Amino acid sequence: MTHSLAGRVALVTGSGNGIGRAIACRLAAEGAIVGINDLRPEFTRATIDLITAAGGQAVDLPMDAAVRDNVHAAVRTLSQRHGRFDIMVNNAAWVRYEAIATITEKTMDRMVNIGFAGVAWGIQAAAEAIEASNNATGGSIINIASAAAFLGLPNAMLYCGIKAGVVGLTRSAATDLGPKQIRVNAIAPGSTRTEAVTAKLSPETIQARQARIPLQRLGEPDDVAEACLFLAGDASRFISGSVISVDGGSTFAYS
Ligand SMILES: NC(=O)c1ccc[n+]([C@@H]2O[C@H](COP(=O)([O-])OP(=O)(O)OC[C@H]3O[C@@H](n4cnc5c(N)ncnc54)[C@H](O)[C@@H]3O)[C@@H](O)[C@H]2O)c1
Repeated sequence: MTHSLAGRVALVTGSGNGIGRAIACRLAAEGAIVGINDLRPEFTRATIDLITAAGGQAVDLPMDAAVRDNVHAAVRTLSQRHGRFDIMVNNAAWVRYEAIATITEKTMDRMVNIGFAGVAWGIQAAAEAIEASNNATGGSIINIASAAAFLGLPNAMLYCGIKAGVVGLTRSAATDLGPKQIRVNAIAPGSTRTEAVTAKLSPETIQARQARIPLQRLGEPDDVAEACLFLAGDASRFISGSVISVDGGSTFAYS
């Protein structure tokens, strides 16, 4: 094991399950101290147990990552406790696909607050903490967008719009924060095998979807975690404002 992130401090929002959990475990396996955050304490606990059982270091940061003060407090807690802050992964989202006509204000608020505003708060809090850390290696902010950012999926006006917005946040923040040696990038996963997907789709739908993906399978959370590790570490030191598709080739095969 290389421990390429030894001594670095990271926070992954929504890391109690799915892609966020895989990212948190991967960063911790490379030696990072990782803040684990989720709305569901039992999920947070499960991720922390996985990391500690593998010999890694995890910090419990229960909070709603849609709320500005919570995100700032969590980042502050990590940087004060460990003397630096290096890596922010804005992953948490709440997703509902639905026809335009039936979208309510409640759905709008919930999706926008966590999926868009939460990412902006994460960028804001991380930028402040990374700058204050004055790390020789700068810092890395990674936003989890989606292939939906580039597509016109049916019944997904809010999701497509929010994820396109995450790409916009990423590009502008990369411009503003580059001179402080803070890199900002996004990952755009295609369909990835998490509970959020398998609970909603029948095995037949999953099979049909896989047949349309050039690499002929759904993504796994670990596929996204590998891309995130690359963007978090020094191997991507001159990459900022980019979006990496982790989608088996599907986004641009059919758009
Ligand atoms: N699974 C896919 O196919 C797929 C594809 C493209 C993009 N994505 C994106 O990847 C990210 C993770 O998706 P996933 O499939 O792993 O989802 P998931 O539902 O499995 O996990 C998301 C986690 O975030 C937590 N969460 C939700 N709101 C929160 C909040 N306000 N504060 C803190 N935690 C919160 C949930 O409790 C959950 O544990 C999301 O941004 C999603 O849009 C997923």
